[in-house]
Amino acid sequence: MVTRRSIWVLNGPNLNLLGERELGIYGGESLADIELRCRDTAAKSDFNIEFRQSNHEGELVAWVQEARTAASGLAINAGAYTHTSVAVHDALRLLDIPIVEVHLSNIFAREEFRHKSYISAAATGVVCGFGAMSYVLAIDALAAQMDL
Ligand code: DQA
Repeated sequence: MVTRRSIWVLNGPNLNLLGERELGIYGGESLADIELRCRDTAAKSDFNIEFRQSNHEGELVAWVQEARTAASGLAINAGAYTHTSVAVHDALRLLDIPIVEVHLSNIFAREEFRHKSYISAAATGVVCGFGAMSYVLAIDALAAQMDL
């Protein structure tokens, strides 16, 4: 049996503009900075990172499906699709690997339309509100889950 040691980190719409976008809410780090942090964190537990971003819902769905056989754990920040996408929810439900829903901001302390997540019900756990550190915590949580 091949042991997969790959954590996939999928990012949804507008996250490509981190570092320029609503700095008071999302912080000054770019998505490339966050990717580096994820790689450093995963390397400590001997995992690889596959890191992707898309502004398109269908592309995210396709990547979640791809992760089904290629990933050993998945972290997903679906951005605004978190609050709208039954399609991403349904795709996540096909996976039998640990899934962590990630948000930079605390979505429960923001507008009411952000309080509803279609991702949470399909996730193993949720990390939100810690800025770029949310990703680091998610990677550590996934690594710990997979080494159980
Ligand atoms: C976000 C929160 C979402 O409500 C928002 O649409 C985003 C980013 C976050 O990381 O805090 O694009 O997922």
